[in-house]
Amino acid sequence: MTPAPFHTLDGVAVAGKRVLVRADLNVPMHDGKITDMTRIERLSPTIRELSEKGARVIVLSHFDRPKGKRVSSMSLAPMAAALGEVLHRRVRFAEDCIGPPAEQVVASLADGDIAVLENTRFYRGEEENDPAFARRLAASGDIYVNDAFSVSHRAHASTEGIAHLLPSYAGRLMQAELKALGAALATPRHPVAAIVGGVKISTKLDLLGNLVDRVDVLAIGGAMANTFLAAQGKSVGRSVQETELHTSALEILKKAAAVGCTVILPLDAVTALELKEGVRTRIVAIDAVPSDEMILDIGPRTLAALEVRLATLKTLVWNGPLGAFETPPFDAGTTAFARAVAAATQAGALHSVAGGGDTVSALRHAGVLEQFSYVSTAGGAFLEWLEGKTLPGVAALGA
Ligand code: 3PG
Repeated sequence: MTPAPFHTLDGVAVAGKRVLVRADLNVPMHDGKITDMTRIERLSPTIRELSEKGARVIVLSHFDRPKGKRVSSMSLAPMAAALGEVLHRRVRFAEDCIGPPAEQVVASLADGDIAVLENTRFYRGEEENDPAFARRLAASGDIYVNDAFSVSHRAHASTEGIAHLLPSYAGRLMQAELKALGAALATPRHPVAAIVGGVKISTKLDLLGNLVDRVDVLAIGGAMANTFLAAQGKSVGRSVQETELHTSALEILKKAAAVGCTVILPLDAVTALELKEGVRTRIVAIDAVPSDEMILDIGPRTLAALEVRLATLKTLVWNGPLGAFETPPFDAGTTAFARAVAAATQAGALHSVAGGGDTVSALRHAGVLEQFSYVSTAGGAFLEWLEGKTLPGVAALGA
């Protein structure tokens, strides 16, 4: 068996040491409330193990995309409280990830104590992977543990730069994710389909270009699909889409045709004037979207087409909801498709792997989280891993 390309926590003496754990506390939030605890629950074994071994555990994470500014709605304070609830332990919180607030909290920790530092993305140096910022983060620790597989596709100061400054190890969640994805998808059974949706269009579009080489079917839903539809000259009304990505979208469709990958785009849609519960909705053909409305879910014809295709597949990977599932009734398409995938998996006909914060939340909402073959905490990172890319945060742990 090929050895892991990194050191694990096995046999590492952590007692009395300040251990900086890069976690991914970028959890789904709605109206200031955490709506899905999966990432926090899956992180907790690493934190518990380190604490029980007598480490002073200091958690680093980003939340959302504050673009180098302090944004109070993007504070990690609620996640620190949620981690405390999951662990049944006091978790301290520092109102900054560097400087005196961080230093004071870290200095106050006894062996076994746990603290969360404020959002690393409040500093531009995080996303710029600025060596000076990485050094300031590293100053709080003696050892670095990366347990954030889901953000290891980003070469940021807290995922990449810092690993070159301290003795570095993979956390238990990182280890488990890489092992499970390797076992599930290293040599997938064909036909393989990727279902990609969600709203993170600009950061995911490029990777679709590489995915078409690896999958037989690519189904695009959610806001991601709107950009493709608009690029094809269809009117998407007031839907979320990115005009500057039209050329890339058309290139991806061209490449898919050239390599024989079937692309499925919505045939119909559920539209409304606004994204609000109880609003009046319409089901329209995809070339008849009213100019003042938004596409908020896939329609029944699209769902039927996906289900017909599903029956032919051996492997399915899914990242990104197919509609605005947090707001009923726009959860209907995602929920129905998730249940169909779960049924095929349970019948033994399909190997299904899903990943991503919102996707996990959508599967939980549909009541099928336990019925997929494997559910990863990672979204974008999982897709990049699937593309065959080396993830900078994993590479930096290189043994
Ligand atoms: C994710 O949710 O996929 C990770 O936390 C990474 O977030 P990002 O796409 O904002 O870098």
